[in-house]
Amino acid sequence: MKKKTMAMMMAASFLGAGGCSAENMTTQKVSAEPDKILIAYYSWSGNTRFAAEQIQKLTGGRLFEIKPVKAYPSDYSACVDQAKQECRQEFKPELAVKAEEFAKYDVIFVGTPNWWSTMAPPVRSFLSAYDFSGKTVIPFVTHGGGGMADCERDMRKACPKAAFGKGGAFSGGSIRNAADALEKWVNEVVTIRK
Ligand SMILES: Cc1cc2nc3c(=O)[nH]c(=O)nc-3n(C[C@H](O)[C@H](O)[C@H](O)COP(=O)(O)O)c2cc1C
Repeated sequence: MKKKTMAMMMAASFLGAGGCSAENMTTQKVSAEPDKILIAYYSWSGNTRFAAEQIQKLTGGRLFEIKPVKAYPSDYSACVDQAKQECRQEFKPELAVKAEEFAKYDVIFVGTPNWWSTMAPPVRSFLSAYDFSGKTVIPFVTHGGGGMADCERDMRKACPKAAFGKGGAFSGGSIRNAADALEKWVNEVVTIRK
């Protein structure tokens, strides 16, 4: 636990908790029917999954877990080391599952843990695996103190054909008590058409 906290503090302090530099390019609130909404996420230790499940309940959209063929080590330090290399190299691991009927979705919430201030590599793979033309991506991030950092900026770079909604960043450690914050943000980014 101590090691983990230290690593997080290190990452958060030297990489900073900066916001999105391309905020002026953010799409205004979108409106969509539940069956046009996909909530895709990668989660290593469950926080981003929890956020994704809340977003699914709030929107009625379809949940999709992004899974690499080769899972990351369950050992925290080994995972941090591997992630460091992969994030630096913008590595895109092969994914195990394809999202069905991807073309039918208009709004895609894309969730990632903050890994070394950017998205987790499987999310980078996801963003380059599909045609995002005409779609709106709404990023959401859980973190260990570093906030959004470069996650949203890097997601935009990795997915240039999509429009982007306003990203949400939530503390992973308190995500299970963040129902109100999640709901407030979801209401800011999407209107559900029934
Ligand atoms: C490999 C790795 C790298 C991480 N790097 C950062 C970081 O740079 N900044 C930060 O705030 N949190 C960092 N964290 C903490 C996670 O972002 C945070 O615990 C998140 O909520 C985990 O989401 P998950 O449970 O969905 O995997 C890192 C965690 C791991 C495993």
